[in-house]
Amino acid sequence: MTDQLIIFDTTLRDGEQSPGASMTREEKIRIAKALERLKVDVIEAGFPAASEGDFESVQAVANTIKDSVVCGLARALEKDLDRAAKALSSAKQFRIHTFIATSPIHMKNKLRMEPEQVVEMAVKAVKYARRFTDNVEFSPEDAGRSDPDFLCRILEAVIDAGATTLNIPDTVGYGFPGEFGPMIGQLIERIPNSHKAIFSVHCHNDLGLAVANSLSAVLNGARQIECTINGLGERAGNASLEEVVMAVKTRKDLFPCQPDVNTREILNCSRLVSSVTGFPVQPNKAIVGANAFAHESGIHQDGVLKNRETYEIMQAEDVGWTANRMVLGKHSGRNAFRARMAELGEEFETEEDLNRTFARFKALADKKHEIFDDDLKALISSAVSEEVNEVVKLVSLHVCTETGEIPEAKIVLSVDGKEQSAVGHGSGAVDATFSAIEKIVNSQSQLLLYSVNNITSGTDAQGKVTVRLEKEGKVVNGKGAHTDIVIASAKAYLNTLNRLYGGGLRQHPQGVV
Ligand code: KIV
Ligand code: ZN
Repeated sequence: MTDQLIIFDTTLRDGEQSPGASMTREEKIRIAKALERLKVDVIEAGFPAASEGDFESVQAVANTIKDSVVCGLARALEKDLDRAAKALSSAKQFRIHTFIATSPIHMKNKLRMEPEQVVEMAVKAVKYARRFTDNVEFSPEDAGRSDPDFLCRILEAVIDAGATTLNIPDTVGYGFPGEFGPMIGQLIERIPNSHKAIFSVHCHNDLGLAVANSLSAVLNGARQIECTINGLGERAGNASLEEVVMAVKTRKDLFPCQPDVNTREILNCSRLVSSVTGFPVQPNKAIVGANAFAHESGIHQDGVLKNRETYEIMQAEDVGWTANRMVLGKHSGRNAFRARMAELGEEFETEEDLNRTFARFKALADKKHEIFDDDLKALISSAVSEEVNEVVKLVSLHVCTETGEIPEAKIVLSVDGKEQSAVGHGSGAVDATFSAIEKIVNSQSQLLLYSVNNITSGTDAQGKVTVRLEKEGKVVNGKGAHTDIVIASAKAYLNTLNRLYGGGLRQHPQGVV
């Protein structure tokens, strides 16, 4: 008999802890809906105690999602558990995930607590969480570097207290498959009440082993994997959902359990997360990279044409790769637009939302006569990202570049509703534009990243620009898309500034309590 492998997605929580990957509430709802279409079992929507904004985002996801379990993270503190329970209360099905560090280095330096006190806090937290739900997950943070005897003790105690899922994190990405997997097997074997809980793993990718460690754990008895779309996450990221799912599905011969996800939605999710966060997917990334199913060399192409299985172990269509269809043009009407958007999984909540996006579509169709699916998705992404409370808006931009002359940009911005203009110079059109913007806003931030990608091919394609700024330790990404890459760059810079000014202070869940 084949068991179910539970897929727990933490893109909206651990993924968002990646510097610059913070998302607005609307963006989180969009990603949560895409994850629901992907049919992940659990969506970890955030850490409600981090800030008012995080609380509201988790609440909004809880209100929206019906088919997946919505989960909220809480430290082993009553105040965090209260916030999580409140944010999740309207969900059709919810889980509270509580955690405390168990490795000697974390207990001594971060928590400044004795192991006995840590066990006591963990048990208290699980019992408290059980007041709100019978779906409680417990994680011993930095389990990968914890003493196995101590892990057995604390895990047995939290199962007795009512934890139904035990998640074993390799918080710092230190584990090796030959060691991490068997460790899970030994825990299951040694803990007398282990049969009362599901064992889960949560692996970070610091040594590039997150997926391998997760799979090894499954071979040793784990039945839940915590992972993120595109492997987004703290530092080098988390185990990537698409790799974990496709490895288990492709090697059914090795695994005693299978995930119940709709793999055809994988590529959609990957593109959405990339476009929302501004983190591009490398072309050679397994499953979702642009080259993942491209057979460049003549020998490979010949083999694939004669028999697909010569070089293909999976089918591109099974993870959502289809031809990028040209579907709409400047004469397409509102109904055709609404219907194609629905096929792409984008429903409009109000007629006003539809009209606003349709107007953007018409403006784009005036500049670019063939509109592809990817253009439509970018339209939605930029509409959602511009919903960030805009303090600074672009009114107009005039750029002059000429061989042998210094590029010049004249910009007019609306700042808090008042128009202001400036002229900037730079080494190129984009540099001059950013310098003009800074003359007005004087943000005193540092530009960490500027990147341009094309959404579709051709010289009339939309350029998608990502900008990352840092100010006083806060790192924020912003995006802009336009057929003119200088305008796309100005929009991306302003989007980043608006995100930098908004959002307020947030508490990191794994920081010092
Ligand atoms: O990496 C980690 O240990 C975590 C826990 C909060 C589960 O993200
Ligand atoms: Zn983590």
